[in-house]
Amino acid sequence: MLTTFLTHNELDTISYTFQAAIVIDVLRATSTIVTALSNGARFVIPVGKIEEAVDIKRIHPDLILSGERNGIKPQGFDLGNSPLEYSEEVVSGKGIILTTSNGTKAIQKAKKIAGNVYIAAFLNISYVVEQLSAYENIAIICAGNESEVSYEDTQLAGFIISKLTECKRYSLSDSSLIALRTWEAIRRPDFSGTHSQKLIELGFGRDVDFCQKIDVFPSVPICKGERIVRNLIK
Ligand code: MLT
Repeated sequence: MLTTFLTHNELDTISYTFQAAIVIDVLRATSTIVTALSNGARFVIPVGKIEEAVDIKRIHPDLILSGERNGIKPQGFDLGNSPLEYSEEVVSGKGIILTTSNGTKAIQKAKKIAGNVYIAAFLNISYVVEQLSAYENIAIICAGNESEVSYEDTQLAGFIISKLTECKRYSLSDSSLIALRTWEAIRRPDFSGTHSQKLIELGFGRDVDFCQKIDVFPSVPICKGERIVRNLIK
């Protein structure tokens, strides 16, 4: 069964569990995590609140403190949430604390409903699908924007569902069918949703272009305890 949640708020009321969950926040948290780990970061700690992130940094000053609110780097943070900031020179060998408006909250919620939690972006989609096809009962979690659906996250959910159902028979929840039909209608990333527009207005147009790229990084981030680490694909 493939069950899709179109926003992270939908997870607040569910009482069942899944073998695996995949978290999607194309713009931009999961694209940032995939990029950071692929460029050699040792781990990412996803954190819900800014205060919590600052407390971890106080105890571990060697970690990179990063994230956004309203798309912008909070005051005193080392990095924002633009994947392009997470170059090899900046992150290789480093640990990162990341707090974002929706993506890191979605990851924390995913950990409560599934034992195996993976991180997906267009940047690593085929590698994610390879890992997921080992499971029968999967939650596909789009971060969305609080209770608002994200057009870009829904496309990636649909792309993942389309690839998974090519390899194997799965039943689909209605939300999975909505995501699949959204993807089938376009069959290439269409970043024209409200969050893309907002990021372009904020001057992050290069992020919007970058996050549409498919299979740039052969790695699948996976949650291990409080950290997300890189699962390199050979
Ligand atoms: C989020 O977590 O809501 C996003 O990653 C926001 C952003 O574009 O930085």
